This record gives sequence, C-alpha cells and structure tokens, in this order.
Amino acid sequence: MDRRQFFTTAIGAGLTSFFSSSCLKSSLNDNKALLSSSLVNNNNLLTQDKNTSLKAAAHKVKKFYGTAISEADIQQDKDYAQLVASEASIAVTEGAFKWIVIEPLPGQFNFAPADQTINFCSANNLKLRGHTLVWHMAKPDWLSYPPSLSDVERHFTEIMGRYRHNQTLYSWDIINEVIADSPSDAEDQVYGLRKGVKPEYVRDVFQIAASIDNSKEFVINDYGCEDTGWKQDKFLNLVRYLKNSGAKLDAVGLQSHMWFSKNYGWNENGFRNFLKQLKSTGVRPIVTELDVIVDTPLPSTLAELDQMVADGYQKYLNACFAEGVETIITWGLSDKYSWLRHPDYLPKKLIDYKDFIRPLPYDTDLQPKPARNAILKAFRNVKS
Ligand code: XIL
Repeated sequence: MDRRQFFTTAIGAGLTSFFSSSCLKSSLNDNKALLSSSLVNNNNLLTQDKNTSLKAAAHKVKKFYGTAISEADIQQDKDYAQLVASEASIAVTEGAFKWIVIEPLPGQFNFAPADQTINFCSANNLKLRGHTLVWHMAKPDWLSYPPSLSDVERHFTEIMGRYRHNQTLYSWDIINEVIADSPSDAEDQVYGLRKGVKPEYVRDVFQIAASIDNSKEFVINDYGCEDTGWKQDKFLNLVRYLKNSGAKLDAVGLQSHMWFSKNYGWNENGFRNFLKQLKSTGVRPIVTELDVIVDTPLPSTLAELDQMVADGYQKYLNACFAEGVETIITWGLSDKYSWLRHPDYLPKKLIDYKDFIRPLPYDTDLQPKPARNAILKAFRNVKS
C-alpha cells in the first residue's frame, strides 16, 4: 500500500463526521445573513478570546492542550515556535522518535531531532510525548514488521534508557496503529491485529518497555476508533486483553483525525459509551492527533468551511469532556504545517480542493481561526 493510499485509508478509516451545525443544515443561501452574523459574532468572540491561551483555558479546568511539532518547523519558523510555546503545555514529536529517523540502520541511533525537540520543550516549559516506538510506517527497509522482539529490545533499551530520567518526556506511544483497517486485513478477528501480529506480541512489547522504564505513561495509539464499528470494537478487545494480561497500559491514544460533513453524522452517544468502556478497563483515553477536515460536498466559501471545522471541534471536544478526557493534542497548530496538506498525505478525494483543507486552529499565516475559538469555548464549557 503506497503512502497516499495508506493515509487515505487511514483517513478513510478515521472517517468520522458531524452533522453540520443547525445554521448550516438548510441550504446555505437561505442562511447567508444568519451565517454572516454568526461569523461576525464568532470573530468578535475570537478577538475577545485572543488574550486567553489554549493552555491557560485548559489548565483552568484541570486539562491539557498540546500540539504535534517537528523540530525542523520549530527551528526554521520562529513565529511558529513562539505560537506553540504560547498556546501549548504539551508537545508530541511528529517524526523524531519514528524508527526510520532514530535508528536508520541497525544499532546506529540518531538522537538529534529528539534532543532538539526536548530542548525546545524544556526551554518553553512544555512536557513531551514520544511518538512512536513501534509502527508499521516510517520503518526502515531492513526492519521486519512486526519488528522481532530482539530488535524491539535493542531499540527500546537505547531510546527509553536514554530518556529514563528526563523530566520533560513523560509519555510514550509504545505501539501505533496495530489494528488493521478491516477484517480482511486482520491477522485475527478478536483483536483485529495487523497481519503477523499476535496479541501476545503486543503484550510482550509492553513488557519489554516496562522492564526498561516503567516511570512514564505508556500509550497504545490508533485511529478510526472514534466512531462505532469494527475497529472500535477490536481496539476495546485489545485494551481489555492487555490490561488482563498485566501490561503496563496507562492510556489509550485516540488519534481523532476527524471529518465533518453535511451528508453523514457521527454517533456521539456511541463514542461516549466507548469512552466509558475504555475507562472501565482502567485506562485513560487521551486525544493524540486531533484535526478536523470537511468532506465533499464542500461549502461555497472558506468562511463557511472554517465555521464547519469549528463546529466539529466543539462537538467532538464537548463529547470528550463530558466523559472526562483531560488531554487534547492537535496534530499541529497551523494549517501551514498540517500533514493533510502535504502531497504524500493529501486525501485523494480532496486532491483538487487543497485550499479547503483547513484542519487546525490557526491558518497558514499563523492567524487564529474560528476553530481556535471553538477549542477555547469547549474548555470554558467544562462543568467543574
Ligand atoms: C505523519 C506526519 O505528520 C508526517 O509529517 C509524516 O511524514 C508521516 O506521519 N498518524 C500518525 C502520525 O500516527 O505519525 C502520522 O504523522 C499521521 C497519521
């Protein structure tokens, strides 16, 4: 599966959407006046709220807001670095800990990107999530999938051992996207694991990690579990298996690459029930890679699109907060650096609408959008 196909599938599998807000439900022409006034209101609110950082709004209700960062973007774009430092209290490495970056050749480690990221976080009082130690993508050609346990042992010993006493790095994505996209792609039908992966292997990987450093938060991370269906069920079965097997599994990462459409809805109650079930196993659900894009048929203006994205953020976060989710991380802070705008990952069906891919709180000029205000409002609406 080529990368674009993978990410389209990933996005496809992560396809989750929201009924558009009422002001968008009927034909847009009839609601232009309403829409423009709500946008004006929204922008006014945006002006008022620009003085409150997302991290401050989160902190006020005992939650955390963060963003994925790449060390290259942070180094090359000081305005962006400053924006990240001002808005986020958590960062997650977009690429620095991926196998192809950190162990490009067997036994040869490149810690520079990770160390640069940690230095930035430490200097700006951010905590860091290490993403991700085992993944079927961003894998060097010499490495098998799943990696042998001896490769895992060497890899984890060098990396987790190096950061064991680091106070900035607090959380590891031990395994990423280990569940297949569909039953036909799965090794088994109980846990839906990718071909070649057994549940005992996943358990053993977590055991190796715990034997090296059991002081950090251990997370299993996946996409496409935000809506009811096969993958959500399999993810829950795997989480239960790992907990019953005694694995050190502290949290589950819901990537939350969400889609928003006028044409289909999202089972919010099903999602909240899923969160309840996850919590009943003793794990904390965390949102690890949130972005919201709009599916075709697209609205006629970017202003309308931005409002739809904002409504998506608000709806998803309200559901998360209603079930006590504490950590919200977006996969970037500005559309300028969104992976979804990169040619390799641009969703096939939106290939001719790149300008309509505006999934993050800030636009390509690092200006706040209604989505930022929606995130702020979601934190403010948390019932204390
Ligand atoms: C993406 C990064 O954003 C890109 O820069 C990189 O080239 C490919 O990976 N789910 C994940 C992330 O868990 O690691 C992916 O990040 C996006 C999908």
